Amino acid sequence: MRILLGITGGIAAYKAANLIRGLSELGHQVTVVPTENALRFIGKPTLEALSGHAIETDMYEDVAQVRHVELGQQADLILIAPATASFLARYAAGIADDLMLNAILASNAPVIVCPAMHTEMWLNQATQDNVSTLESRGVRLMEPASGRLTGDDSGPGRLPETEDIIAFAMQDLPLKGKHVLVTAGGTREPIDAVRYIGNSSSGRMGIELAKAARDAGAQVSLIAANIDLPLPKGIEVTRVGTVDELELAMDRDCDAIIMAAAVSDFRVQNPYLGKLKRSDGLNLELTPTKDLIANFAANHPNSVSIAFALAEETQERLIEIARGKLWDKSVTAVIGNSFEALGSQETLVQFVTKDDAVELTGSKTEVSKSIIELVSKLIK
Ligand SMILES: Cc1cc2nc3c(=O)[nH]c(=O)nc-3n(C[C@H](O)[C@H](O)[C@H](O)COP(=O)(O)O)c2cc1C
Repeated sequence: MRILLGITGGIAAYKAANLIRGLSELGHQVTVVPTENALRFIGKPTLEALSGHAIETDMYEDVAQVRHVELGQQADLILIAPATASFLARYAAGIADDLMLNAILASNAPVIVCPAMHTEMWLNQATQDNVSTLESRGVRLMEPASGRLTGDDSGPGRLPETEDIIAFAMQDLPLKGKHVLVTAGGTREPIDAVRYIGNSSSGRMGIELAKAARDAGAQVSLIAANIDLPLPKGIEVTRVGTVDELELAMDRDCDAIIMAAAVSDFRVQNPYLGKLKRSDGLNLELTPTKDLIANFAANHPNSVSIAFALAEETQERLIEIARGKLWDKSVTAVIGNSFEALGSQETLVQFVTKDDAVELTGSKTEVSKSIIELVSKLIK
């Protein structure tokens, strides 16, 4: 998920360093925007090194990019931690006088604020009124923790622990607590010790689906068949080569399986153990492989099972073919796509269920997000 992390100028700003690390380790893309005052409490080099990008606070730098709009529109979630009393007041009043508040107001992403301040400042009626105003507009507030404050005093006002903030930020996600299994890439069936029958699936679609499921809060297991692309963080990965290895790795329970891997329909009956020589000639005896997703659906009737159908046809024919496969394999849905999708960044797919066919188009990242939204509705 693309998270815009806003840091304001309170004593707890230094704790944002752990938050950047914790969110990044879970595979989220964290863009940090501090206020000018936050940089009095935590240094720019720390934030730049941990987030891996340059830190901006000035609205009027790089104006051609209209940075505040870009920041706001590129965020899937905005998290402000710590949030000062002053920030809460400005946000409640809609005062957009710095890069962070302009980005927040220019965004449709959900916003979470984590106030941290002295108990008296927190309980002050002005702060409480601002919090109520923000909550009435749908901003999610994480109550400050109680405990030791800046000086000798203690009470409510502490910034909660990093893991608690992360758990709070993720708790309303649609796939929270669900296990999603995604297969990706293409299997290879050996002909001899060095040659194989393979296919041109890059694994990109499966990777994007795994990332989208992870960003929707799922625990994701990715079974990667011969993928050369970098694999995402925050996801359990099992690497496989052949159809048999894929079948073995799929033998587990989950709430949903998405079978994005291109599985060989045939295997060589008796692969040669050494390297075949050209002079020997070659006659391959092929036998059909098992239909892994159909078997999985039969053995796991409580899991949502999503198959893929690849065909070079018109969109209407693609829907018919996908619906045919839906019945043949007894799966919950079939995603029909055409040959152009192979290896490309863009795709157009038909998400076909018994009652419906939804056309989804765009980059594989965008289409994967839409597919995961549909899958989360199918999971009971
Ligand atoms: C040492 C020190 C600690 C502070 N800690 C907090 C704090 O924890 N919470 C808070 O709301 N304000 C705190 N402030 C006051 C803020 O820095 C001040 O309100 C500032 O204007 C906030 O700016 P910003 O919201 O633009 O980042 C502190 C100030 C100082 C000097």
